[in-house]
Amino acid sequence: MAEPTFSPSLLQSLREAEHIVVLTGAGVSAESGIPTFRQAQTGLWAKYDPQELATPDAFRRNHRLVWGWYQWRRELVSRARPNPAHLALAAMEEVTTHLTLITQNVDGLHGQAGSHNIIELHGNLMRNKCFEYDHPVTAGAEIAPEVPEDPPRCPQCRSLLRPDVVWFGEALPANTIETAFAATQESDVFFAIGTSAVVHPAASLPLLAMERGALTIEVNPDRTSLSPLVDHRFPRPAGELLPALVLAAWPDVSIGGV
Ligand code: OAD
Repeated sequence: MAEPTFSPSLLQSLREAEHIVVLTGAGVSAESGIPTFRQAQTGLWAKYDPQELATPDAFRRNHRLVWGWYQWRRELVSRARPNPAHLALAAMEEVTTHLTLITQNVDGLHGQAGSHNIIELHGNLMRNKCFEYDHPVTAGAEIAPEVPEDPPRCPQCRSLLRPDVVWFGEALPANTIETAFAATQESDVFFAIGTSAVVHPAASLPLLAMERGALTIEVNPDRTSLSPLVDHRFPRPAGELLPALVLAAWPDVSIGGV
């Protein structure tokens, strides 16, 4: 596939931006080997629907199954490394005036890539909390389970631990969505990268950016509901497109590993 090209006006808008907001989804971690949600599920859990596993009821019904699925995802994530898309976003944060990175992902790869101003809308897979009272738990403080396949227990209340991620039907972590909306309200450039834009409230952020007149950019090989609405659409893998875009706008920037 030919090298992507970028209009001078787009590159100038990036360089002059006062506040760039980036919304990422599972697609930005696809090139790190982490399966997305709504594409053909690969591997052991192809027969389970995440919407059947990532819910409080599923955990009540069968906490070993849900815990096992998250342990499998943790194992996968622990072997994953940031890809050039994550690294290009970290580099962009270094060279631009103000960048807010809002991610739906729970894999922690943006932080590993060097991004700092991150809002984890859906929590973080590598953290636990207790199922009954949301007590935060430092790793290793938990009480060993009676049965190996059981989740460990909360040191404060002995209820089962669960991953500190947002499940279907649950509210987002307090003030994360408010912070995400506030950043989007004042953004003058808004990227939607690797997201199918179907899960709210995250999916309403690009629409808010458009209402506020921000320059909107989508990076996704597949079409989404945003595709006909954005100012610039790049139907390319993020790991290819983002380094090329950042280097085109800021030729002297160094992108780790690229
Ligand atoms: P999805 O799996 O719904 O969408 C991933 C998008 O990334 C798809 O549109 C793919 O076409 C695209 N994609 C795949 N490979 C890509 C690549 N290399 N570069 C760029 N894009 C690529 O994942 P999300 O939109 O993140 O919620 O899903 C949103 C939420 O639904 C998730 O956070 C999760 C899920 O249920 C919770 O866990 C609460």
